[in-house]
Amino acid sequence: MVNKKNLLSVRDLTISDVENIFKLADQYLKNKAAGCHILQNKIVINLFFEDSTRTLASFEIAAKSLGANVVTLPIKSSSINKGEDLKDMVKTLNAMNPDYVIIRQKNSGIINVLAQYINCSLINAGNGSGEHPTQALADCFVISSHKNQIRGLKIIICGDILHSRVARSNIRLLKMFGAKICLIAPPTLICRYFPEVDSIYYSLIEGIKDADVIMLLRLQKERMGNGCFISSEREYFYLYGLDSQKLLYAKPDAIIMHPGPINRGVEISSDIVDYVILQQVEFGLAIRKAVLHHYSSC
Ligand code: NCD
Repeated sequence: MVNKKNLLSVRDLTISDVENIFKLADQYLKNKAAGCHILQNKIVINLFFEDSTRTLASFEIAAKSLGANVVTLPIKSSSINKGEDLKDMVKTLNAMNPDYVIIRQKNSGIINVLAQYINCSLINAGNGSGEHPTQALADCFVISSHKNQIRGLKIIICGDILHSRVARSNIRLLKMFGAKICLIAPPTLICRYFPEVDSIYYSLIEGIKDADVIMLLRLQKERMGNGCFISSEREYFYLYGLDSQKLLYAKPDAIIMHPGPINRGVEISSDIVDYVILQQVEFGLAIRKAVLHHYSSC
């Protein structure tokens, strides 16, 4: 069922929600000062239990530029370190009557549990290998600004699919808009159970043929435990890293995307790191403003 108050998954969005978010994001992109009182007197709490540069900074900038009072809780000095249960911590913050809680968590399932203790809008900023809906919205927004329409585009997602919340959200969102999704990864880093996926390749050179969009993903070592998923980064780059030679197999106007952080020489060679990757950050800020705006009426 589509959730109107929370954004925990891409599944909480209808096509008309996404279209409204894109329309708002477009306005925010064109006018940086737009909507500066929209969130006046509103309280936004950022609760990031995992490292973040882009997502945290953009949520904080987005909320502040729309006029909200923003608290980014320093997790390392919070009472979670005094043994407080996560549920109790969330109930405590909820008692301060915030309007939004933005959460990033290592565990994929816990966000649905926490949602039961939060009365305001809860926005998922990444839950383990679960989902990252605002990144997918930003990525989809970038793609639609470069290509006239998403329907029929061949979009390849290459890298550590198994651990990627960005892949999961993008697969679902891009399929809603009719893209052809092709996954490329070593057999150890693929997840075969996506009904939305059109094809799977274990070779970048084969999968990249005629691609319109190439989305690269980082090897997410922090989720690999002691498991051995690749032989070496060198071999991984040789087989799955994008370089100017492999890029020749894609369409000449293909765009190269990466949610960041980039590991140069592992998933991409330095010389082809392109402006579109920074555009994902720029558009990501506009999308986060638009998401806060969209949920302000809930
Ligand atoms: C991603 C994340 O944290 O899920 N980055 C991001 O939010 N832009 C991808 C990653 O960490 O590899």
